[in-house]
Amino acid sequence: MQTPPPLMHAVLIRHFGGPEAVELADIPVPVPSDGELLLKVEAASLNPVDWKIRSGRYPVVKEDKLPFVLGRDFSATVLQSDDAALPAGTLVHGMVDMKHGALAQYTIARPEQVVPVPGALDRMAAAAVPLAALTAWQGLFVQGGLRAGQRVLIHAGAGGVGHFAVQFAKARGAHVITTVSTDDVELARNLGADEVVDHVQERFETKTRDIDLVFDLIGGEVQERSWAVLRRGGTLVSTVGQPPKERADAIGVRAVGYQAGPDAGQLREIDALIQAGKVRPVVSRKYALGDAKEALRALEDGHVTGKLVLDLRGAVADVPDPIYWPGA
Ligand SMILES: NC(=O)c1ccc[n+]([C@@H]2O[C@H](COP(=O)([O-])OP(=O)(O)OC[C@H]3O[C@@H](n4cnc5c(N)ncnc54)[C@H](OP(=O)(O)O)[C@@H]3O)[C@@H](O)[C@H]2O)c1
Repeated sequence: MQTPPPLMHAVLIRHFGGPEAVELADIPVPVPSDGELLLKVEAASLNPVDWKIRSGRYPVVKEDKLPFVLGRDFSATVLQSDDAALPAGTLVHGMVDMKHGALAQYTIARPEQVVPVPGALDRMAAAAVPLAALTAWQGLFVQGGLRAGQRVLIHAGAGGVGHFAVQFAKARGAHVITTVSTDDVELARNLGADEVVDHVQERFETKTRDIDLVFDLIGGEVQERSWAVLRRGGTLVSTVGQPPKERADAIGVRAVGYQAGPDAGQLREIDALIQAGKVRPVVSRKYALGDAKEALRALEDGHVTGKLVLDLRGAVADVPDPIYWPGA
């Protein structure tokens, strides 16, 4: 008789919809293939992609991927590994691909998707870093080519991606201008922004110009107003879709949309800045796994400062640690 695999708690959707589509369910612990790591998740962060997937508006996740476990980035302890550099017991953080979710007690990643957590971070702060920080890094430096001395305008500099972007750009030696709402003006200054525009009170296009790089995390009307502040030859990088190329060509600028992805080398560079005290993740609120629905709703409602992180330890005592792995 085959022993059934052990179960784990996971936050998932079985259909697309509003916040009510999110459920905490017990599902089998995933089984790693050769070369993959089995991870015990310690904490996981929330990202807008989670509620976009839930709503059915995220093109990569269609009906055929349901049920779908939410959560893209995490801190976790390695349970099973063939990789000598990441032995069992190592605390790592990283990003999963769309095959696995991080809002679960256990998940699976490939070695190139994770790195050991630097000593400066606890497991909750470590979970806040991977997706948002890699998005900021790839947008500013890989897509935007930001260099020391350049002027960068970062929209939404107090949110998940933005608060990393402000700190990375500053650490690179750029002149950093950022838009935030009134309550976050002081935070943005503390993160190192040279100029902070309160987007509730002021219009950024009346306060700044000759921008080398606009990092657009909002799109729509904010993106539309951003063309005017770019210098000729400047670049607009957006996380929310491909900006219209004809528009960029007409005014002699470059426009890039991109999808951020896992990159262990970049995550190590980010962690080195954190370890050196030059960058700090801001976790504004912590939740238990059972409060995932409420946390996702808070993120979707907006006005989030820094990151929201879910604690995967505790509150799950009814599901024991797995002791049996099919194929192990
Ligand atoms: N392409 C990719 O790979 C990728 C990766 C990560 C994220 N994204 C996308 O990038 C966007 C930002 O992600 P995130 O994780 O940073 O989101 P987030 O943590 O929810 O932060 C969004 C921030 O935007 C602020 N905001 C709203 N309207 C604003 C405005 N008009 N001007 C300035 N700030 C404004 C919000 O605060 P206030 O309302 O209080 O100002 C909030 O702090 C999302 O749409 C996300 O889906 C894409």
